[in-house]
Parts: sequence; C-alpha cells; structure tokens
Amino acid sequence: MQTYTYKKNQKLFNRALKVLPTGIYGHLGPVEGCFVPISSYPLFSSHAKGTYFWDVDGNRFIDYMCAYGPNVLGYNDEDVDLAVANQMKLGNCTTSPSSIMVECAETLVDTVEMADWAFFAKNGGDVTSFALMIAKAATGRKKTILVNGGYHGVAPWTQKLGHAGICEEDVANNLYVDWNNYEQVETIVKNNPDDIACFLATPYHHPTFTDSELPSKDYWQKIRKLCTDYGIVLAIDDVRCGFRLDVKGSDHFFGFKADLMCFCKALGNGYNFSAICGIDALKDAASSVMYTGSYWYSAMPFAAGIACINKLKKIDGPKLMQEKGKKLTNGLVDIAKNYGFNLVVSGVPSMWYMRIANDDSLTLHQEWVSECVKRGVFFVNHHNLFINCALSDEDIKLTHEIADESFKVVKNNHKEI
Ligand SMILES: Cc1ncc(COP(=O)(O)O)c(C=O)c1O
Repeated sequence: MQTYTYKKNQKLFNRALKVLPTGIYGHLGPVEGCFVPISSYPLFSSHAKGTYFWDVDGNRFIDYMCAYGPNVLGYNDEDVDLAVANQMKLGNCTTSPSSIMVECAETLVDTVEMADWAFFAKNGGDVTSFALMIAKAATGRKKTILVNGGYHGVAPWTQKLGHAGICEEDVANNLYVDWNNYEQVETIVKNNPDDIACFLATPYHHPTFTDSELPSKDYWQKIRKLCTDYGIVLAIDDVRCGFRLDVKGSDHFFGFKADLMCFCKALGNGYNFSAICGIDALKDAASSVMYTGSYWYSAMPFAAGIACINKLKKIDGPKLMQEKGKKLTNGLVDIAKNYGFNLVVSGVPSMWYMRIANDDSLTLHQEWVSECVKRGVFFVNHHNLFINCALSDEDIKLTHEIADESFKVVKNNHKEI
C-alpha cells in the first residue's frame, strides 16, 4: 500500500503562515499537539462526502475526527442539505428571526428530556458561558465548580492562569475537583454553602492525552441531590457527547436530570449553531441576561438542526454509532494483540479514546497513528475520536486492513515488543 504525500498541503500551509497566526490556529492546527508527527498529516481539505474527506493533494481519508464532532450523519447529508437549501431560498440572516427558530426550539424541547425551553447561539463556548451567567443570575452567587481536565471552550474563565492572555480575575471564581470524586465536591459545597452558583461538567470525562472515564455508580445521582439540596445549578456540557449517546440528552443516558444542557457539535451536522436547553425554573434568569450575537438568528442552521435531529431519531443514530464504534474498536484491539500491542480503548464506542499502552511516552502510539493517517485513516493521537452514521462495514474493514499494515510497520521498527 502506497503512503500519501502532502506537497500541495505544505505549499498552502507556507502561504497560510504569512497571513494567519500559526497558519491554522486552534484545535485544527499543528500547534495543538494531537497531530504528531505533523509530516504525516494533511493540513487542508478540498471536499468531503459521507464519512470521507479529501485533502488538497487528492488523498482520501476515512475521517474518525468528524470535524471534531459536527459530522454526525455524514458530510453533505442529503436530507440536511436539502432543508438548508430550501431555507436559503426563503432567507437566512434577517432583521426579525425566521419562524423556523421557533420550530427548532420546539424540536429540541420535544426531543431533549429535561428541556422546557431552548436558546440558540453559534459555538459551544457561547452556551457554556451562558450557562454560568444564567446560574449566577438565578442564584445571586458567583462561584462555579469545574472538573480538572474538562474542556468548555476558550472564554477566559475556561482557561488556566499562566496561559497567554489570562489574568487572575478571569479564573478567580473557579473551584476545581477531580472527576468522579463526589467527596471533593461535597466538601467544597459544605465549605462554601452560599457562594456556589453552578456545577458544570461533561457527562463523562473525556480529556486529552489520557483515558476517558465514565461516571462511577451513583455519581451523577449524588451530585444531582447535592445541587438540589444547596440550590446549585447543575449544568451539563453536552457539546461533544450530545446526540452521540442519546438523542434525549446525555443526562438521560446516565439516569439523571440536569438543570441546563449545552449542545453544539452534532446539532446541525456541520451547520453552525449551538443551543442551551433549560428547565422552567431557570427561564426567567435566562430571560434576564443580555446575551446575543450578529449571526445567532441565522435561519439556515435551524433548518439543518431540525433535519439533523429528526433523522438521528428516525435512524436511532446514537445506537447505530455505538454499534459501529464497537465493531471498529473490538477489531482494532484484536489486530493490535496479534502484533503484541496492548491497545487500550476507553470512553463510549461512538466517541472512543485509544492508546497503545506498551510504552508510557505514547510515542509507539504516535508512530502507529501516523502510519494509519498516511494510508488514509484519519486518527489523531491524544484526543477522543468520533463515529458518524455514514461509516459503512466496508469502511470498517478497510480501516482494519490499514491498521493491520500499520501495526506491522511499527512492529518491524520495534522487534523488542
Ligand atoms: C466538551 C466541550 N465543551 C465546549 C466546547 C467548545 O465548543 P466550541 O469550540 O464550539 O466553542 C467543546 C469543543 O470542543 C467541547 O468539546
């Protein structure tokens, strides 16, 4: 099997470096740390369809990053794109919001179990920040409990002291706990009974560079009770997991009821919008906060959202993706074993994290991933991966073949294993 080359990608990146900070900034760029070695990766895409994207050199990839989550039905899904095209003819960004915004909110309220209302923005970070503002408005308190290693966007409060552009005041109201450590949360709450507005966490722990962890038994039920007892708003950041575990919300999946739920990535199959859903008791607080943006009422993403959610419900997308993820990851683990590699898989199958555990430095893992990427399977090294509904059995079979060949290459380089 021939490996890919990236001449046009590299040429374009050199042009980008001249006019864009870091060439490609943020999570899609080479400075982010998940694209190692960078020479194995495509940098710019040319087009996409279903489960694939093609780079500017014409290389095709089975894409297990799914645009970091938004590709949930398959790129350019025909039902979603048709709904968007129809809405485009009617209008997109207009002075009064389109009536489709109400339809979209109704769709979410009918779908997400805890939702009595919905509010729309553009990015995941818009709604995680709004969750904190709603909680502060509702409680008159200012502190938030967050989980170490959790990611909630790039607003200053989400970052760490010492990061460029962040000062003490930005993070002064954050209190940190370890994932799955209920006792830590209880202690903080009991020591600050009148200060804590919000507990904000992802439904399960999916940090970078380390294994994902599911909630331990009764964790969420105990957190729910504690928040209720102390008048703390329980906000769930379902930006990444949303609609990949359960169309009714990941709180429903884990058997509890959140007060606020933040959604984004899989909401519109790539059309840009985010949503926060809330309970009735927080509707006045949400109404009281001044929060809006130039494009937050754009109608085309609402059309995409309605089509995407309805299709996910019709095909039971979360179940489908869990099954595909299981088939894919079980196969990868078995193939790894044949070559003496211990591939550890964590998280949920539709959004799994993996690492070769034979060496703690993770360089073997990077070597294997790099061989896969150069043969057309797009994995990144230290972030969870994603399944989409368009992934076929043939794609899984091809992925297994490429994974096998890649393990063979790494084994040849490391005969000691
Ligand atoms: C769990 C989680 N929360 C929030 C965000 C921020 O979303 P956005 O990048 O759309 O602002 C992300 C993005 O990766 C995320 O994974």
